[in-house]
Amino acid sequence: MIPDKSRVRHIPVLLNEVLSGLEVEPGGWFVDATAGRGGHTKAILESGGKVIALDQDQDAITELKLKFDQELKEERVVIKEGNFANLLSLVDKERIGKISGVLFDLGMSTQQIWGPRGFSFLKSEALDMRMSLTNEVTAAKIINNYSRNELYEIFRRLGEENLAGPIADAIFRARAIKRIETTDELVEIVVGVYHQAHVQQKIHPATRVFQALRIAVNRELENLRQGLECAWIVLRSGGRCVVISFHSLEDRIVKQFFLNKLRLGEAESVTKQPIVANRVEIKSNPAARSAKLRIAKKLKYEQDAKTLF
Ligand SMILES: C[S@@+](CC[C@H](N)C(=O)[O-])C[C@H]1O[C@@H](n2cnc3c(N)ncnc32)[C@H](O)[C@@H]1O
Repeated sequence: MIPDKSRVRHIPVLLNEVLSGLEVEPGGWFVDATAGRGGHTKAILESGGKVIALDQDQDAITELKLKFDQELKEERVVIKEGNFANLLSLVDKERIGKISGVLFDLGMSTQQIWGPRGFSFLKSEALDMRMSLTNEVTAAKIINNYSRNELYEIFRRLGEENLAGPIADAIFRARAIKRIETTDELVEIVVGVYHQAHVQQKIHPATRVFQALRIAVNRELENLRQGLECAWIVLRSGGRCVVISFHSLEDRIVKQFFLNKLRLGEAESVTKQPIVANRVEIKSNPAARSAKLRIAKKLKYEQDAKTLF
């Protein structure tokens, strides 16, 4: 059953672990790079921290401004629309190198999953999948214009989809007859390929194709790499970088980034194994099932902020 978007409650994932990971201290400034529906931002504010809340989704920004109206007036929160890949230009220059913690809670918010932008294969919507409407690439553009091999690469690399080839072929054939504009048209093609290949699996056949498309549309892996580099620069010595990821491609990037900082002597400590949600949390919030949290503590601050502009 498809929930009514307005009634979907957003439960922030691994909340206590995030707060202790960030070591929120009263008066310290924190960046919530993926503020979404404000769950983690709210908790940081309640613990006495101040927050620069970012999101690239215009709808999220509107909701955040309403939700934190009072905190905005009290100058305990700053809300900015933008991509965390551009974190350095979103944080005021005088705060660069002084931030106590940066949080990334990657993926989609409930607002996005159940909204009208075609993120879910359970709802018939236009094939959009943009988190930011300033992005010129939509899922429909990729599906209808990319070459068969480019589609194959996206499904294989970003979705780890075993039937990437037959699915790319089927899309190629279908779009020669008529443009593929909606999520259910795409779902029908993917389900058809699975049916023909007599492959059965526990998850919905369109899961991996939708994940791959979303990652490609929003350039999620490139943004994450750049966002982590920026986060490291804005952090003060001893500041914490906390990242929640939801699939192995993201987790690999975070793990490598943190280990590299450790090797370079720029990180004091990093989580050896990712922190995951316990059974109780997963029961009340199924979105936490695939969440992996990693934390790194910055050791020293060497970069001269002036050289960055
Ligand atoms: C899982 S939600 C965050 C939920 C949030 N922690 C909460 O408690 O409500 C992820 C959010 O990150 C945003 N986002 C994803 N990639 C982004 C990027 N590169 N730059 C800025 N925001 C991004 C999405 O628009 C979405 O609102």
